[in-house]
Amino acid sequence: MHSKTIFLLAGVLVAGLARAGDPAVGEKMVTEHACAACHQRLVGGDGSTLYTRSDRKVTSKAKLTAQVSFCSTQLKTGWFPEDEEHVVAWLNHRYYHFK
Ligand code: HEC
Repeated sequence: MHSKTIFLLAGVLVAGLARAGDPAVGEKMVTEHACAACHQRLVGGDGSTLYTRSDRKVTSKAKLTAQVSFCSTQLKTGWFPEDEEHVVAWLNHRYYHFK
C-alpha cells in the first residue's frame, strides 16, 4: 500500500473516533466544570432533572450539540467542538438516548 494511502486511512479513522465522542470523558468534563451549579438554580435538586423534564428544550442530537455548545460558551469552558462531542455523548448516553 502507498504510504500516502495509509496516512489518509489513519486520518479518517481518527476523525471518526473524535466524532463519536467518549461518554466517560464527557462525564468527567461535566463533573469538573460547574454545569450543574447553574442548572440547580434553575430546577433544584442535583440539576439533572433539567435534562429529563417533560418540557425539555433538547429534542434531537443536533439540538443537544447546540445546547452544550451554548452552555459551554456561557461557562467559558474553552472547550472545542471535539471536546463538546464527549459531553454530548455522555448526556445522550445517560439522559437523552437519541439515535
Ligand atoms: C450560566 C448558567 C448555565 C451554565 C453554567 C450551564 N448551563 Fe446548561 N442550561 C442553562 C439554561 C438557562 C438552560 C435552558 C433552560 C431552559 O431554557 O428552560 C440550560 C439547558 C441545558 C441543556 C438542555 C436541557 C433540556 O431542556 O433538554 C443542556 C443539555 C445543558 N444545559 C448542558 C450544559 C452543560 C454541559 C453545561 C456545562 C458546560 C451547562 N449546561 C452549563 C444554563 C446554564
